Amino acid sequence: MHTFTSLVAVALFARVQGLSVAVDRTEQLTSRDIANLGAVSFADRTAPVSLPNCKVFPGDAAWPDDSEWAQLNKTLGGALLKPLPPASVCYRTSPNFNAEACSFLLNNASRTTFYFDDPLSILTQWPQGNTCLLSRNPTGNCTQGGFPEYVVNATTVKHVQAAVNFARNKNIRLVIKNTGHDFVGRNTGAGSLSIWTHYLKGFEFLPNYKQPGGNYRGAAARVGAGLQIWEAFAHADRHNVTLVAGSCLTVGAYGGWVTGGGHSPLSSKFGLGVDQVLSMQVVTADGRYVTVDAQTNRDLFFAMRGGGGSTFGVLISAIVKAHPQINLTIASFDFTLGSTRSPSPGPSVTITDTETFWKGFNEVFAFGIPTVDAGGYLWTNGIPNGAGSYSMQVQVQLPGFTPTSAATFVQPLLTTLNNLGIPVALSTPPTTRVYSRATGSTGGSPGNGYFASRLFPRPAYEDPTLFAAAMRAARATVEAGYTFHGLNMAPTLEVAGFPEPAGANPVWRTAVMHADVFARVNMGSLTPAEAVAEQRRLNEFMQPLRAATPGGGAYFNEADVNEPEWQRSFFGENYNELVRVKRSRDPWGVFWAPTTPGSEAWAVQDGSELPTQNGRLCRVA
Ligand SMILES: Cc1cc2nc3c(=O)[nH]c(=O)nc-3n(C[C@H](O)[C@H](O)[C@H](O)COP(=O)(O)OP(=O)(O)OC[C@H]3O[C@@H](n4cnc5c(N)ncnc54)[C@H](O)[C@@H]3O)c2cc1C
Ligand SMILES: *[C@@H]1O[C@H](CO)[C@@H](O)[C@H](O)[C@H]1NC(C)=O
Ligand SMILES: *[C@@H]1O[C@H](CO)[C@@H](O)[C@H](O)[C@H]1NC(C)=O
Ligand SMILES: *[C@@H]1O[C@H](CO)[C@@H](O)[C@H](O)[C@H]1NC(C)=O
Ligand SMILES: *[C@@H]1O[C@H](CO)[C@@H](O)[C@H](O)[C@H]1NC(C)=O
Ligand SMILES: *[C@@H]1O[C@H](CO)[C@@H](O)[C@H](O)[C@H]1NC(C)=O
Ligand SMILES: *[C@@H]1O[C@H](CO)[C@@H](O)[C@H](O)[C@H]1NC(C)=O
Repeated sequence: MHTFTSLVAVALFARVQGLSVAVDRTEQLTSRDIANLGAVSFADRTAPVSLPNCKVFPGDAAWPDDSEWAQLNKTLGGALLKPLPPASVCYRTSPNFNAEACSFLLNNASRTTFYFDDPLSILTQWPQGNTCLLSRNPTGNCTQGGFPEYVVNATTVKHVQAAVNFARNKNIRLVIKNTGHDFVGRNTGAGSLSIWTHYLKGFEFLPNYKQPGGNYRGAAARVGAGLQIWEAFAHADRHNVTLVAGSCLTVGAYGGWVTGGGHSPLSSKFGLGVDQVLSMQVVTADGRYVTVDAQTNRDLFFAMRGGGGSTFGVLISAIVKAHPQINLTIASFDFTLGSTRSPSPGPSVTITDTETFWKGFNEVFAFGIPTVDAGGYLWTNGIPNGAGSYSMQVQVQLPGFTPTSAATFVQPLLTTLNNLGIPVALSTPPTTRVYSRATGSTGGSPGNGYFASRLFPRPAYEDPTLFAAAMRAARATVEAGYTFHGLNMAPTLEVAGFPEPAGANPVWRTAVMHADVFARVNMGSLTPAEAVAEQRRLNEFMQPLRAATPGGGAYFNEADVNEPEWQRSFFGENYNELVRVKRSRDPWGVFWAPTTPGSEAWAVQDGSELPTQNGRLCRVA
């Protein structure tokens, strides 16, 4: 713990450049703080809970006045923010209007970490209600919409405790945002207080860790909830170890990714994100800071490993497995039907026979089985180019392989495709790199997409009739203008190496593919009615995929917010137990986010079938 604190302080020193105040992130809320401001008192678990019908909203008589917010800010040592949406600088009617700042957003922000360092920004915008979109000449006025009213820029445990207690005692909606990657608005909410975990950046290497109440002994790391994947990997590489985390380097490794499941190119080798976690430090709904592991608070250890973020507590830090360094080797190729050039770089093979293309498409997916059995991850995109042209992009990602062994491994697939009349070869010799020495952008910018997910269980995938039906359904999505994005992986309990039950959807343990079907739409340019129609159309195309994958489900973190029967689909047989934990741990309903366990008891009053977070949160009668 000591080392953690001092490392954090060192990191913070670097950030604030010379500010000579060491910040102790494990500093907790004291009785003195509570004496100064009763509104940050801990919950009395013996008192009866009376739930109002709705959360208090700005403008209500019960909404705290400016002096109360100022007192909270004092308790927080000045960490309370009241930000306006970043694009407000482009709106002439905003007090924030600033042509130069607007020009930066339009031209340069996406290449920087601007949006990750912004307290409000979320990467999928429609849940906010699209009330302040970035535009050169915006029409209308910029309003707060589904963005929070206040944000706590949390750097200590105390900040999180004060925010949780204040929100609970004042009946204010509470949300948690880390990087803002969530696709369905679980990170934002109108009239809310937001806990922003982005600056919980601690890291400590633990070369000889023994898991309490468990069987893991060996290298581990204590990681702060705010670390983005690129930062976690840089720490790992410095210590010559591997930390398992997703492919997109800007995702928060220990916020939504790890609590919602967490897949990666190493999933067939080391399991899911939830399988990496040995212990957690959490602020619970009563405001207490607790240890969560296989021995202590086991219900939370189950729930917070796959039952989703934003609903059981606020993760401050975790202790995760550190595996030996491993190389990731990738063999890539693609092929295109019709005259349009493949959208991917590198030489593309073009063919003209439609049925040959789709036979090749099926053969690529069939190769998912040998790939996962070899510990690999098969990444694919079936893409509509328009005018009857389609492309298939393929990356066979093989941890622990050399370029030569990877080329040998992929050859049978290439031969099969060649025999079909698709003269593909690898676009270049397979590339290899140390897994944690990843290169890629550390910046990004908001988008406005929509998609749905399906997890394919192995028995269905290996049944020739069901596999053929699934491939027909996948083809139909691409022919209808969707991108079919496949990720073959097998995070079985065997590779997870972890006997402790996890809340993640049990379907993951027999799955051999996660697929997302992407609508190529900008939800920001649609009317609400058009957006709902788009969502319904996508759902119709998902039905045959669901029918062809009995016993399957969908991946909570990368799914449709309107997934039918989402409880079963996202959490399978774990759902009832997750709801039980939610009710016992958070009888006050402090935490809420769409499609999290127990969330059906509340709804956002935004008047839309496509649920945005732009409205008051009320209980469902
Ligand atoms: C470009 C892109 C690539 C992706 N690639 C992958 C991938 O390879 N593998 C994969 O599995 N997923 C992937 N995802 C999905 C990703 O895992 C989820 O969006 C995830 O929820 C992001 O977590 P975050 O903390 O970065 O984002 P946020 O949106 O900030 O948070 C996500 C959710 O977690 C909650 N949360 C965040 N921090 C905490 C905390 N400390 N305590 C409690 N709750 C918290 C939030 O309230 C929210 O509900 C990708 C997403 C994007 C946009
Ligand atoms: C909180 O206090 C800090 C430091 O005094 C100040 O900069 C900030 O504006 C305050 N926040 C709000 C919402 O007033
Ligand atoms: C910002 O973007 C503009 C337009 O793309 C470009 O000309 C300019 O060089 C960029 N400036 C910086 C500092 O990157
Ligand atoms: C925008 O705000 C201005 C003044 O702040 C107001 O006069 C105008 O009616 C608003 N426009 C819309 C479309 O709400
Ligand atoms: C949030 O806090 C961090 C760490 O103290 C600081 O570097 C950053 O500037 C703050 N962000 C905002 C928007 O105040
Ligand atoms: C790094 O780890 C690898 C794999 O365990 C090992 O082979 C190598 O010797 C280590 N390198 C250093 C510099 O410790
Ligand atoms: C891992 O890849 C690097 C190149 O990035 C290479 O130098 C090294 O030899 C590889 N290690 C193994 C074990 O293949």
